[in-house]
Amino acid sequence: LRGDKPAYGNLIALGEVLLGYRNEYDRYTDRPLLSSGGVNDLLPPAEDDASKRDLGRNGTYLVLRDLLQDVRAFWSFAKTETIASAFVGRTPKGDPLVQAGTDQNDFTFAQDPDGTRCPFGAHIRRANPRNGDFPSVPTGPIATLLAMLGFGKQRFHDDITSSVRFHRIVRRGREYGPPLASADATLPAPPDDPARGLRFVCLNANIGRQFEFLQSAWFASSKFNGLAGESDPLLGNREPGPNGESTDAFVMNRADAAPARLTGVPQFVTVTGGAYFFLPGLSALRYISQSA
Ligand code: HEM
Repeated sequence: LRGDKPAYGNLIALGEVLLGYRNEYDRYTDRPLLSSGGVNDLLPPAEDDASKRDLGRNGTYLVLRDLLQDVRAFWSFAKTETIASAFVGRTPKGDPLVQAGTDQNDFTFAQDPDGTRCPFGAHIRRANPRNGDFPSVPTGPIATLLAMLGFGKQRFHDDITSSVRFHRIVRRGREYGPPLASADATLPAPPDDPARGLRFVCLNANIGRQFEFLQSAWFASSKFNGLAGESDPLLGNREPGPNGESTDAFVMNRADAAPARLTGVPQFVTVTGGAYFFLPGLSALRYISQSA
Protein backbone atom coordinates (compact mmCIF):
# COMPACT_ATOMS: atom_id res chain seq x y z
CA LEU A 1 0.00 0.00 0.00
CA ARG A 2 1.22 3.50 -0.63
CA GLY A 3 -0.19 6.65 0.85
CA ASP A 4 1.50 9.20 -1.38
CA LYS A 5 0.62 9.91 -4.96
CA PRO A 6 0.12 6.64 -6.85
CA ALA A 7 2.88 5.73 -9.26
CA TYR A 8 3.65 2.81 -11.48
CA GLY A 9 4.33 -0.45 -9.74
CA ASN A 10 2.69 -3.53 -8.36
CA LEU A 11 1.36 -1.57 -5.42
CA ILE A 12 -2.13 -0.58 -4.46
CA ALA A 13 -2.90 3.01 -3.54
CA LEU A 14 -3.77 3.37 0.15
CA GLY A 15 -6.97 5.21 -0.81
CA GLU A 16 -8.40 2.00 -2.28
CA VAL A 17 -8.62 0.50 1.20
CA LEU A 18 -8.51 3.44 3.64
CA LEU A 19 -10.67 6.55 3.52
CA GLY A 20 -9.05 9.98 3.39
CA TYR A 21 -6.17 9.08 1.07
CA ARG A 22 -5.78 9.35 -2.70
CA ASN A 23 -7.04 6.35 -4.58
CA GLU A 24 -5.82 4.96 -7.87
CA TYR A 25 -7.81 7.58 -9.79
CA ASP A 26 -5.75 10.14 -7.91
CA ARG A 27 -8.95 11.26 -6.16
CA TYR A 28 -10.47 11.01 -2.71
CA THR A 29 -13.34 8.55 -2.38
CA ASP A 30 -16.57 10.01 -0.94
CA ARG A 31 -16.66 10.00 2.83
CA PRO A 32 -18.29 12.09 5.54
CA LEU A 33 -16.61 15.52 5.80
CA LEU A 34 -17.69 17.86 8.60
CA SER A 35 -17.26 21.59 9.12
CA SER A 36 -14.39 22.73 11.36
CA GLY A 37 -14.84 23.91 14.92
CA GLY A 38 -15.85 22.54 18.29
CA VAL A 39 -15.72 18.81 18.87
CA ASN A 40 -15.28 18.28 15.11
CA ASP A 41 -11.69 19.48 15.52
CA LEU A 42 -10.89 16.13 17.14
CA LEU A 43 -10.91 14.92 13.55
CA PRO A 44 -7.99 15.52 11.19
CA PRO A 45 -8.43 18.07 8.39
CA ALA A 46 -9.45 16.60 5.06
CA GLU A 47 -6.41 16.34 2.77
CA ASP A 48 -8.40 17.63 -0.18
CA ASP A 49 -10.33 20.40 1.62
CA ALA A 50 -8.56 22.18 4.50
CA SER A 51 -11.83 23.81 5.62
CA LYS A 52 -13.34 20.41 6.43
CA ARG A 53 -12.73 17.71 9.05
CA ASP A 54 -12.48 14.13 7.84
CA LEU A 55 -14.65 11.63 9.73
CA GLY A 56 -13.52 8.90 7.37
CA ARG A 57 -9.73 9.30 7.62
CA ASN A 58 -8.05 5.97 8.43
CA GLY A 59 -11.44 4.31 8.48
CA THR A 60 -12.91 2.01 5.86
CA TYR A 61 -16.02 0.05 4.98
CA LEU A 62 -16.44 -3.54 6.07
CA VAL A 63 -18.68 -5.91 4.14
CA LEU A 64 -19.99 -9.00 5.90
CA ARG A 65 -21.64 -11.93 4.15
CA ASP A 66 -22.87 -15.19 5.60
CA LEU A 67 -22.52 -17.76 2.86
CA LEU A 68 -24.11 -21.17 3.29
CA GLN A 69 -22.21 -23.78 1.27
CA ASP A 70 -23.74 -26.95 -0.12
CA VAL A 71 -20.54 -28.99 0.06
CA ARG A 72 -22.39 -32.21 -0.84
CA ALA A 73 -23.87 -30.68 -4.00
CA PHE A 74 -20.43 -29.35 -4.94
CA TRP A 75 -18.65 -32.70 -4.78
CA SER A 76 -21.61 -34.68 -6.17
CA PHE A 77 -21.56 -32.46 -9.24
CA ALA A 78 -17.80 -31.96 -9.65
CA LYS A 79 -16.99 -35.62 -8.86
CA THR A 80 -13.28 -35.21 -9.66
CA GLU A 81 -10.53 -33.02 -8.28
CA THR A 82 -9.86 -31.84 -11.84
CA ILE A 83 -13.28 -30.26 -12.19
CA ALA A 84 -13.32 -28.94 -8.62
CA SER A 85 -9.94 -27.29 -9.28
CA ALA A 86 -11.19 -25.87 -12.59
CA PHE A 87 -14.14 -24.26 -10.76
CA VAL A 88 -11.80 -22.57 -8.29
CA GLY A 89 -8.70 -22.00 -10.44
CA ARG A 90 -6.54 -23.63 -7.77
CA THR A 91 -6.04 -27.23 -6.67
CA PRO A 92 -7.27 -28.30 -3.21
CA LYS A 93 -3.65 -27.79 -2.05
CA GLY A 94 -3.86 -24.17 -3.16
CA ASP A 95 -1.62 -24.32 -6.22
CA PRO A 96 -2.87 -22.04 -8.99
CA LEU A 97 -3.66 -23.87 -12.24
CA VAL A 98 -1.53 -21.22 -13.94
CA GLN A 99 1.79 -21.74 -12.21
CA ALA A 100 4.48 -19.19 -12.71
CA GLY A 101 7.03 -20.17 -10.13
CA THR A 102 7.47 -21.07 -6.54
CA ASP A 103 5.27 -18.31 -5.15
CA GLN A 104 1.67 -19.51 -5.17
CA ASN A 105 0.40 -15.94 -5.50
CA ASP A 106 2.87 -14.45 -7.94
CA PHE A 107 1.31 -15.15 -11.32
CA THR A 108 -0.80 -13.60 -14.03
CA PHE A 109 -3.01 -15.22 -16.64
CA ALA A 110 -0.83 -13.87 -19.46
CA GLN A 111 0.74 -17.32 -19.82
CA ASP A 112 -2.67 -18.87 -20.37
CA PRO A 113 -4.30 -16.65 -23.02
CA ASP A 114 -6.65 -19.40 -24.25
CA GLY A 115 -7.78 -20.48 -20.81
CA THR A 116 -6.63 -24.05 -21.40
CA ARG A 117 -4.97 -24.29 -17.97
CA CYS A 118 -7.26 -22.13 -15.88
CA PRO A 119 -10.77 -21.67 -17.32
CA PHE A 120 -11.75 -18.04 -18.04
CA GLY A 121 -14.73 -18.53 -15.75
CA ALA A 122 -12.83 -20.05 -12.78
CA HIS A 123 -13.58 -18.29 -9.47
CA ILE A 124 -10.10 -16.78 -9.03
CA ARG A 125 -9.93 -15.67 -12.67
CA ARG A 126 -13.23 -13.83 -12.27
CA ALA A 127 -12.39 -12.52 -8.78
CA ASN A 128 -9.07 -11.05 -9.86
CA PRO A 129 -8.32 -11.23 -13.59
CA ARG A 130 -4.80 -9.98 -12.74
CA ASN A 131 -4.21 -8.42 -16.15
CA GLY A 132 -3.31 -5.16 -14.47
CA ASP A 133 -1.01 -6.47 -11.79
CA PHE A 134 2.13 -5.63 -13.63
CA PRO A 135 1.60 -2.44 -15.63
CA SER A 136 4.28 -1.88 -18.23
CA VAL A 137 7.21 0.09 -16.96
CA PRO A 138 9.89 1.34 -19.33
CA THR A 139 12.59 -1.25 -19.85
CA GLY A 140 15.74 -0.73 -21.90
CA PRO A 141 17.53 2.52 -22.75
CA ILE A 142 15.24 3.64 -25.60
CA ALA A 143 11.99 3.07 -23.70
CA THR A 144 13.46 4.82 -20.65
CA LEU A 145 14.59 7.78 -22.78
CA LEU A 146 11.12 8.06 -24.38
CA ALA A 147 9.55 8.02 -20.92
CA MET A 148 12.00 10.70 -19.70
CA LEU A 149 11.11 12.87 -22.68
CA GLY A 150 7.48 12.66 -21.68
CA PHE A 151 6.19 10.15 -24.22
CA GLY A 152 4.20 7.11 -23.34
CA LYS A 153 2.19 6.56 -20.20
CA GLN A 154 2.68 9.18 -17.53
CA ARG A 155 0.39 8.31 -14.71
CA PHE A 156 -1.26 5.37 -13.06
CA HIS A 157 -4.65 5.92 -14.59
CA ASP A 158 -3.22 6.29 -18.10
CA ASP A 159 -2.51 2.61 -17.88
CA ILE A 160 -5.76 1.08 -19.09
CA THR A 161 -5.15 -2.33 -17.60
CA SER A 162 -4.78 -0.82 -14.13
CA SER A 163 -8.58 -0.99 -14.04
CA VAL A 164 -8.26 -4.38 -12.37
CA ARG A 165 -6.55 -2.82 -9.37
CA PHE A 166 -9.44 -0.39 -8.86
CA HIS A 167 -11.58 -3.34 -7.83
CA ARG A 168 -9.34 -5.01 -5.29
CA ILE A 169 -10.56 -5.88 -1.82
CA VAL A 170 -8.84 -7.04 1.35
CA ARG A 171 -10.72 -10.18 2.34
CA ARG A 172 -10.87 -13.01 4.86
CA GLY A 173 -13.23 -15.95 5.15
CA ARG A 174 -13.88 -17.87 8.34
CA GLU A 175 -15.49 -21.26 7.81
CA TYR A 176 -18.22 -22.67 10.02
CA GLY A 177 -19.47 -26.24 10.31
CA PRO A 178 -17.34 -29.38 10.54
CA PRO A 179 -15.02 -30.33 7.68
CA LEU A 180 -16.40 -32.74 5.10
CA ALA A 181 -13.89 -34.70 3.02
CA SER A 182 -14.67 -34.93 -0.69
CA ALA A 183 -15.05 -38.74 -0.46
CA ASP A 184 -17.67 -38.43 2.32
CA ALA A 185 -19.47 -35.56 0.63
CA THR A 186 -21.00 -37.84 -2.00
CA LEU A 187 -22.54 -40.18 0.62
CA PRO A 188 -26.18 -39.61 1.62
CA ALA A 189 -26.49 -36.81 4.18
CA PRO A 190 -27.48 -37.82 7.76
CA PRO A 191 -30.77 -36.28 8.97
CA ASP A 192 -28.92 -33.91 11.34
CA ASP A 193 -26.33 -32.84 8.78
CA PRO A 194 -24.83 -29.62 10.19
CA ALA A 195 -24.73 -26.44 8.15
CA ARG A 196 -21.42 -25.51 6.57
CA GLY A 197 -20.32 -22.26 5.11
CA LEU A 198 -18.17 -19.21 5.15
CA ARG A 199 -18.41 -15.95 7.09
CA PHE A 200 -16.89 -13.62 4.56
CA VAL A 201 -15.58 -10.18 5.38
CA CYS A 202 -13.84 -7.68 3.17
CA LEU A 203 -12.51 -4.14 3.52
CA ASN A 204 -12.75 -1.53 0.80
CA ALA A 205 -13.00 2.24 0.49
CA ASN A 206 -15.78 2.16 -2.08
CA ILE A 207 -18.29 -0.68 -1.74
CA GLY A 208 -19.89 0.04 -5.13
CA ARG A 209 -16.66 -0.02 -7.06
CA GLN A 210 -15.04 -2.87 -5.19
CA PHE A 211 -17.20 -5.52 -3.44
CA GLU A 212 -20.39 -4.87 -5.46
CA PHE A 213 -18.50 -4.60 -8.72
CA LEU A 214 -16.95 -8.02 -8.13
CA GLN A 215 -20.35 -9.48 -7.35
CA SER A 216 -22.16 -8.00 -10.36
CA ALA A 217 -19.68 -7.45 -13.18
CA TRP A 218 -17.33 -10.31 -12.52
CA PHE A 219 -19.23 -13.08 -10.66
CA ALA A 220 -22.83 -12.71 -11.82
CA SER A 221 -22.27 -11.52 -15.40
CA SER A 222 -23.08 -14.29 -17.86
CA LYS A 223 -20.91 -12.54 -20.49
CA PHE A 224 -17.78 -12.04 -18.39
CA ASN A 225 -14.56 -12.30 -20.41
CA GLY A 226 -16.29 -13.33 -23.66
CA LEU A 227 -18.13 -16.24 -22.03
CA ALA A 228 -21.78 -17.06 -22.66
CA GLY A 229 -24.36 -18.53 -20.30
CA GLU A 230 -22.04 -18.82 -17.28
CA SER A 231 -21.80 -17.31 -13.82
CA ASP A 232 -19.20 -17.76 -11.12
CA PRO A 233 -18.97 -21.53 -10.56
CA LEU A 234 -18.89 -21.09 -6.76
CA LEU A 235 -21.11 -18.06 -6.17
CA GLY A 236 -23.61 -17.99 -9.05
CA ASN A 237 -27.28 -18.38 -8.08
CA ARG A 238 -27.99 -19.78 -11.60
CA GLU A 239 -31.04 -17.55 -12.04
CA PRO A 240 -31.51 -16.59 -15.72
CA GLY A 241 -29.81 -13.31 -16.72
CA PRO A 242 -31.70 -10.06 -17.54
CA ASN A 243 -32.47 -11.24 -21.10
CA GLY A 244 -33.44 -14.72 -20.01
CA GLU A 245 -30.04 -16.19 -20.84
CA SER A 246 -28.96 -19.18 -18.79
CA THR A 247 -26.15 -18.79 -16.26
CA ASP A 248 -25.54 -22.40 -15.25
CA ALA A 249 -22.86 -23.46 -17.75
CA PHE A 250 -19.11 -23.79 -17.28
CA VAL A 251 -16.63 -24.13 -20.12
CA MET A 252 -13.16 -25.63 -19.88
CA ASN A 253 -11.03 -24.95 -22.94
CA ARG A 254 -8.62 -27.72 -23.87
CA ALA A 255 -5.39 -27.51 -25.88
CA ASP A 256 -5.90 -30.79 -27.72
CA ALA A 257 -9.69 -31.14 -27.95
CA ALA A 258 -12.88 -29.16 -28.32
CA PRO A 259 -13.90 -27.21 -25.21
CA ALA A 260 -15.68 -29.23 -22.53
CA ARG A 261 -18.96 -27.53 -21.62
CA LEU A 262 -20.78 -28.46 -18.43
CA THR A 263 -24.40 -27.38 -18.09
CA GLY A 264 -26.84 -27.48 -15.22
CA VAL A 265 -24.23 -26.46 -12.64
CA PRO A 266 -26.26 -26.29 -9.40
CA GLN A 267 -26.25 -23.43 -6.93
CA PHE A 268 -23.61 -24.22 -4.31
CA VAL A 269 -23.67 -21.04 -2.21
CA THR A 270 -26.65 -19.22 -0.69
CA VAL A 271 -26.39 -15.80 0.92
CA THR A 272 -28.07 -16.12 4.34
CA GLY A 273 -27.04 -12.79 5.81
CA GLY A 274 -25.01 -9.71 5.21
CA ALA A 275 -24.33 -6.16 6.29
CA TYR A 276 -22.28 -3.11 5.42
CA PHE A 277 -20.39 -1.37 8.24
CA PHE A 278 -18.41 1.82 8.62
CA LEU A 279 -15.17 0.96 10.43
CA PRO A 280 -14.01 4.21 12.04
CA GLY A 281 -10.39 5.25 12.47
CA LEU A 282 -9.12 6.14 15.97
CA SER A 283 -9.84 9.87 15.64
CA ALA A 284 -13.39 9.11 14.47
CA LEU A 285 -13.83 6.81 17.48
CA ARG A 286 -12.66 9.62 19.80
CA TYR A 287 -15.04 12.00 18.08
CA ILE A 288 -17.98 9.59 18.37
CA SER A 289 -17.30 8.98 22.09
CA GLN A 290 -17.01 12.75 22.77
CA SER A 291 -20.11 13.74 20.89
CA ALA A 292 -22.36 11.04 22.38
C1 HEM B 1 -18.52 -19.63 -0.12
C2 HEM B 1 -18.03 -18.69 -0.90
C3 HEM B 1 -16.60 -18.64 -1.41
C4 HEM B 1 -15.69 -19.63 -1.55
C5 HEM B 1 -15.83 -21.12 -1.20
C6 HEM B 1 -14.49 -19.02 -2.08
C7 HEM B 1 -13.31 -19.70 -2.36
C8 HEM B 1 -12.15 -19.14 -2.81
C9 HEM B 1 -10.91 -19.84 -2.99
C10 HEM B 1 -10.67 -21.34 -2.69
C11 HEM B 1 -10.01 -18.96 -3.44
C12 HEM B 1 -8.54 -19.24 -3.79
C13 HEM B 1 -7.65 -19.07 -2.60
C14 HEM B 1 -7.37 -17.64 -2.23
O1 HEM B 1 -6.89 -16.86 -3.08
O2 HEM B 1 -7.64 -17.28 -1.08
C15 HEM B 1 -10.66 -17.67 -3.55
C16 HEM B 1 -10.07 -16.51 -3.98
C17 HEM B 1 -10.71 -15.29 -4.05
N1 HEM B 1 -12.03 -15.04 -3.78
FE1 HEM B 1 -13.40 -16.37 -3.11
N2 HEM B 1 -14.70 -17.69 -2.27
C18 HEM B 1 -15.97 -17.40 -1.87
C19 HEM B 1 -16.59 -16.16 -1.86
C20 HEM B 1 -16.01 -15.00 -2.34
C21 HEM B 1 -16.66 -13.70 -2.34
C22 HEM B 1 -18.07 -13.39 -1.81
C23 HEM B 1 -15.77 -12.81 -2.88
C24 HEM B 1 -15.88 -11.34 -3.12
C25 HEM B 1 -16.98 -10.64 -3.23
C26 HEM B 1 -14.56 -13.57 -3.21
C27 HEM B 1 -13.43 -13.01 -3.75
C28 HEM B 1 -12.25 -13.68 -3.94
C29 HEM B 1 -11.02 -13.04 -4.35
C30 HEM B 1 -10.82 -11.55 -4.65
C31 HEM B 1 -10.06 -14.04 -4.43
C32 HEM B 1 -8.58 -13.87 -4.79
C33 HEM B 1 -8.35 -13.99 -6.26
C34 HEM B 1 -6.90 -13.74 -6.59
O3 HEM B 1 -6.36 -12.69 -6.18
O4 HEM B 1 -6.32 -14.58 -7.26
N3 HEM B 1 -14.76 -14.88 -2.88
N4 HEM B 1 -11.97 -17.81 -3.17
